[in-house]
Amino acid sequence: MKICNTIEEMRAACRAVRRAGKRLGFVPTMGALHEGHLSLVRAAKAGCDVVAASIFVNPTQFGAGEDLAKYPRRFDRDRELLEREGVELVFAPSAEEMYPAGAVTWVTVEGLSDKLDGRSRPGHFRGVATVVAKLFHVVEPDAAFFGQKDAAQVAVIRRMVRDLNFAVEIVACPIVREADGLAMSSRNAYLDGQQRNQALVLHRSLMRVRKLWESGECAAEKLVAAGLKEIAEEESVRLDYFEIVEADSLEPVERAKSGMVVAVAAFVGTTRLIDNILL
Ligand code: PAF
Repeated sequence: MKICNTIEEMRAACRAVRRAGKRLGFVPTMGALHEGHLSLVRAAKAGCDVVAASIFVNPTQFGAGEDLAKYPRRFDRDRELLEREGVELVFAPSAEEMYPAGAVTWVTVEGLSDKLDGRSRPGHFRGVATVVAKLFHVVEPDAAFFGQKDAAQVAVIRRMVRDLNFAVEIVACPIVREADGLAMSSRNAYLDGQQRNQALVLHRSLMRVRKLWESGECAAEKLVAAGLKEIAEEESVRLDYFEIVEADSLEPVERAKSGMVVAVAAFVGTTRLIDNILL
């Protein structure tokens, strides 16, 4: 497995793969890898000849007062996990390499960037879209793999790829959960035992909505009310949003239909967690 720290090295390595006529899959990550990330790598391995991954804690997608400084950084462990999964190329640049002094150019996916997480985290999706665009320019992958857990991120990236004519297929992979339903997240590492239990309410609230929807209830207002009721039962958990939205536009809907996203974000202690289901 080759590790590249500079854009030049990574670009050359990726170009060599493509010149050899191989399909290149790409898994962008911020490290602190878990089974969710590894499922993306496995999907990439299944659909591509060569897999590249990036490990870069992107400062521009963290707001003031968010967890940039304490975000888990476990490069040696991540490298081992990627090597074990058969990843051929890893891009691990420094912040200076990715953002040269004086950089003032941003990618903003207007409208979508202030929905769901974008509403509570102003500037977050500008940072995500910018870094993903930059990574795509360096790697020029045939396909890139993202977790459906960040449903809004998937919508933002799909729209950016369409609007800016990137020649990359975006593949969204299913959420990977712990046995008790908790969606895997690098931020779960912040939770103590009690909070870990409290965090299960996110998944329970989504399951309650799914059950009600499957019993025939389509009114988004009633479905959301059921989800909110479940969240309220865990008093220590502070809700950020609970919405039913179109998967592509992230617009809230009145009638819930198959393919729509039920999305929740909430704080457990100081840790902000997200989860969703596709109806
Ligand atoms: O989903 C993530 O881990 C990040 O938002 C991404 C896509 C790697 C961009 O920094």
